[in-house]
Amino acid sequence: SVLHYGQEVFEGLKAYRRADNTIWLFRPAFNANRFNQSARRMALPEIPVEDFVGSCVDLVRADARWVPVKDGATLYLRPFMYASESFLGVHPAHEVTYLNIGSPSGPYFDNGFSPVSIYVSEDYHRAGPGGTGEAKTSGNYAASLQPQEIAAEKGYAQVCFLDGETNTYIDELGGMNVFVVYRDGKVATPQLTGCILEGGTRGAIIQVLADEGITVSEERIALHQLLDDIRAGKVAEFLACGTAAVVTPIGKLGGKDFELEVPTGPMTKHIHDVITGIQWGRREDPHGWCYRVL
Ligand SMILES: Cc1ncc(COP(=O)(O)O)c(C=O)c1O
Repeated sequence: SVLHYGQEVFEGLKAYRRADNTIWLFRPAFNANRFNQSARRMALPEIPVEDFVGSCVDLVRADARWVPVKDGATLYLRPFMYASESFLGVHPAHEVTYLNIGSPSGPYFDNGFSPVSIYVSEDYHRAGPGGTGEAKTSGNYAASLQPQEIAAEKGYAQVCFLDGETNTYIDELGGMNVFVVYRDGKVATPQLTGCILEGGTRGAIIQVLADEGITVSEERIALHQLLDDIRAGKVAEFLACGTAAVVTPIGKLGGKDFELEVPTGPMTKHIHDVITGIQWGRREDPHGWCYRVL
């Protein structure tokens, strides 16, 4: 069934081997809850949080030798569930399979940050109102592939999607959320409209900044306003975030009739250092985000 109707959900999280050789997960219950939210939307059964986290723990313990020793490298975990019933006909499957697989993954940045270029997709959307944008499900990624190809042909690294209803507001990238840091100190991120995947990194950044007295404004960010603000020098940094890279600066923003250099600054690096510091046990973990496995 999954091959025909795409009834599938997945998650992505990492296991970190610290300098003292202990192995930890980062906010696995967040991923468990998001997995269940995705499952509900895709008419798949939910899994108890302790079973989801338990599958991560068991996998990491069984494959501990595959958790890299190198700083910044991790074992990437991919829990997923899909309609495994052998049946043609559009209905929620009566048989589903839950699996969890892992793969070593290298450090995202080998030599410090390198800003990425982003192409705004004005012709194609990944999600629309009432659709499945806030679920982590295969079809959203299938919908992002052709726009991603178009962006790559134009020399850009990633695609930025606009809202599917008005084609006006920035939603997110194909696999990352975004934040705008303004010169006047304001920090904003697109508000969750039901079309955006709620990133764990997004939430962690909002909390880390709140701890420092900065309230992130969750709001609709119009593309034309962002372009005006970049041209007027009001934008200090534009960054993308997700489990893979934690954060990455956006250095160029292009679209059908514009191409702008975006400034980079210290906030992206600061956020990176705080969150990776907590993940790798080099910083205090005030919210109890780290979960010891071994
Ligand atoms: C569409 C999309 N948005 C945002 C994110 C960032 O989410 P997280 O920070 O939980 O990795 C991801 C990655 O999982 C994603 O696939």
